Amino acid sequence: MSIDGYLDDAERERLLLSNEADFDRVDAVRSGCDAILVGAATIRQDNPRLLVRSAERRAARVAHGKSASPVKVTVTGRCNIDPSAHFFTVGDVDKLVYCTSSSYDSALQRLGKVATIVDGGDPVDLHRVTADLAARGVRRLMVEGGGTMHTQFLTAGLADELQLVVAPFFVGDSRAPRFVGDGNFPWGPDRRATLAEVRQIGDVVLLRYALSDRFHPG
Ligand SMILES: NC(=O)c1ccc[n+]([C@@H]2O[C@H](COP(=O)([O-])OP(=O)(O)OC[C@H]3O[C@@H](n4cnc5c(N)ncnc54)[C@H](OP(=O)(O)O)[C@@H]3O)[C@@H](O)[C@H]2O)c1
Repeated sequence: MSIDGYLDDAERERLLLSNEADFDRVDAVRSGCDAILVGAATIRQDNPRLLVRSAERRAARVAHGKSASPVKVTVTGRCNIDPSAHFFTVGDVDKLVYCTSSSYDSALQRLGKVATIVDGGDPVDLHRVTADLAARGVRRLMVEGGGTMHTQFLTAGLADELQLVVAPFFVGDSRAPRFVGDGNFPWGPDRRATLAEVRQIGDVVLLRYALSDRFHPG
């Protein structure tokens, strides 16, 4: 996020906040996960590929009997996602779409050929999503945004770790999406989160917070 807590600016083009060294660190974190989740708005806005970039890391995953990149996961109510988005078309990995019960039929029709569609409740219940992912063998899930997803995972107490990277500039435009929205977060003045690590990576800083006893410092 920017110094003032934004994940993007208000323009159509994706705003790059991290530097190359941090993008590579994120790639390493990705390669250590079983699945990566983004909200539907991030697919529409950024069209991310969500693959492990490094050939060495992909080869190491395959050598351990895994897919070259983690499973891709998204959540949607409106199902207004383009089936030709990179999320669906690149990478030989499973793609999972958790949609609301009421949109299940339209999701199946629109995206059923390019992804596995799962009824996630109305609205999609993230406890249900994580339980279903666990049943599919996902032990480590990386939530890569956007703010709506961060807010729900954090307020539901479902995140074991928060990795926050602060880029050295301001966005200064309240039309832009924030790192999180309003919500009842388990960490407040009376229950402070545990800061587990601070790491400078060139001109950005990584803050790691341990949010549950499942946090692993490695
Ligand atoms: N800086 C970064 O690291 C980073 C990372 C990722 C994203 N971003 C930025 O974040 C912005 C997008 O963030 P955002 O907060 O607007 O959106 P988001 O979190 O990416 O996606 C929100 C959408 O997800 C679906 N959704 C979320 N929770 C749901 C639930 N419980 N039930 C049903 N559907 C649910 C809805 O999709 P439908 O509208 O389809 O119903 C909702 O509109 C973009 O500008 C992107 O560039 C930045």
